[in-house]
Amino acid sequence: MLVTLKEILTKARRGKYAVGAFNVNNLEAIQAVIAAAEAEKSPVIISTSEGALEYAGLDELGHLVHLAAHKTKVPVVFHLDHGKNLALVEEVIDRGYHSSIMYDGSALPYQENVAHSRRFVKLAHAKGISVETEIGALAGIEDFVSVQAKDAHLTDPIQAKEFVRLTGCDALAVAIGTSHGAYKFKGNSKLDFKRLKEIAAAVQMPLVLHGASGVPAGIKKQCLKYGCQIAQAKGVSDANIRRAVSLGITKVNIDTDLRLAFDAGLRKFLKENPEVIDPRKILGPATELMVQVIRQKMKMLKSSGQA
Ligand code: G3H
Ligand code: 13P
Ligand code: ZN
Repeated sequence: MLVTLKEILTKARRGKYAVGAFNVNNLEAIQAVIAAAEAEKSPVIISTSEGALEYAGLDELGHLVHLAAHKTKVPVVFHLDHGKNLALVEEVIDRGYHSSIMYDGSALPYQENVAHSRRFVKLAHAKGISVETEIGALAGIEDFVSVQAKDAHLTDPIQAKEFVRLTGCDALAVAIGTSHGAYKFKGNSKLDFKRLKEIAAAVQMPLVLHGASGVPAGIKKQCLKYGCQIAQAKGVSDANIRRAVSLGITKVNIDTDLRLAFDAGLRKFLKENPEVIDPRKILGPATELMVQVIRQKMKMLKSSGQA
């Protein structure tokens, strides 16, 4: 069933667990997310980035996710991830496939971020759609315009409190040391838990961790064995994710780990079965590895059994 972000995150916050948000671009990824959620009896968030909508089409992904969400008993949120293009965010709200949107104005000057976020909250709420916003920028990847202090890219708790009050958003993405992609840390995985505690105390609402992929060791090993060049890849440790959840993170965004699982499954199958040309057979193991990774995340986040 299709539900809003607000609904499942309110429940998760009360139950002290988090819900995974998994990025999809195609049918196989949607199938993997739904299969994992059903196997774990877990609520789930299916995220489509602007790039995903451009790649597969808003109508196409919209219909596929709606069909899948309406066929299953587990709660499914259909979420726009990192909506930055104002016209696109407006179109997504207008078309109404998504039950949740993220407006990401984190790269803009603060006042502009507030103004756009506030406007999208009004538009989305009028249609029963939840809204995630962001302040602070993920180190290394998201562009930030004015860096006044050494750690200006990390979320400021006092500003977060004001931002939430001014915008009326349903969830807030915070920057506490993660970044997008497969190369998050040169040394050990390390997050700013002190800052997270202060933000959680200040805003009292569901918090979102972007860039939360872990680069699982087994998946990385299989990728490397079959020729993928990702030797330096490093993600956030499971222990750090669990701690972040215990401190108030209720939505955990995962894209890279699904890309790695898909890649590992695909490369192994093609190498071992060079005679097979049927895409349905070729994509099977890649989909199955994505299911395994998603199920492991659901167990780690303790959303298993919460559907
Ligand atoms: O946070 C961004 C996600 O990993 C989506 O990536 O824009 O390449 O689809 P994408
Ligand atoms: P990863 O690149 O760590 O998977 O993060 C994904 C994300 O934050 C999507 O919004
Ligand atoms: Zn993100």
